[in-house]
Amino acid sequence: MINKEISKIIKLRKSIYPKDFNSKKIDKKTIIEILENANHAPTHKMTQPWFFKVFSGNSKQKLLKAIISHNKEMTSMAKEKLNFNFEKTSHIICVCMSRNSGILPEWEEIAATAMAVQNIWLSCVNVDIGGYWSTPKFTPTIKDFLSLSNTQRCLGFFYLGRHDFVNKRNIKRKNIEEETEWFV
Ligand SMILES: Cc1cc2nc3c(=O)[nH]c(=O)nc-3n(C[C@H](O)[C@H](O)[C@H](O)COP(=O)(O)O)c2cc1C
Repeated sequence: MINKEISKIIKLRKSIYPKDFNSKKIDKKTIIEILENANHAPTHKMTQPWFFKVFSGNSKQKLLKAIISHNKEMTSMAKEKLNFNFEKTSHIICVCMSRNSGILPEWEEIAATAMAVQNIWLSCVNVDIGGYWSTPKFTPTIKDFLSLSNTQRCLGFFYLGRHDFVNKRNIKRKNIEEETEWFV
């Protein structure tokens, strides 16, 4: 038997998008608690490749300006949407990864960072905080703005916000028994 509470939390996790945020701010203590959970992700050779750059308040506008100035081809509709999303969001977490000493293949560092993101996502279950991982094409263009070195990468943004109400998760999952081959 596995822990039913954990199964429940995993199945309740869902993406909640900025359109459903109520623009209320999340306190810093809560953000730190969420990042503490991220920090407990498993990691090969304990390289702990993840690190985060957190934008809230006025700094969100600075991030927005950097994105727009490095992506001149962005349509006004795309800019407006981004501005709307940033306004509704309490904290934008730039999910970053460092290759450290390069002792591991990059995919392992990315996988470990993705597990840290899953912990962020799971931390939002059953509270009035939600979010989602956004991986826009323009992410590499803000490398300098984020002061990332050549061995570091931004793997997208985790938008976090408060919400009053969200619909139940209704994304149908594939049947895992059809995806599993047993060898006995
Ligand atoms: C690596 C990764 C990248 C993602 N990038 C985006 C994205 O750029 N835009 C988006 O709307 N959702 C993105 N998502 C969220 C997925 O669309 C979402 O997890 C999926 O639809 C399943 O919904 P759920 O999270 O509610 O289970 C991403 C998810 C993952 C794991």
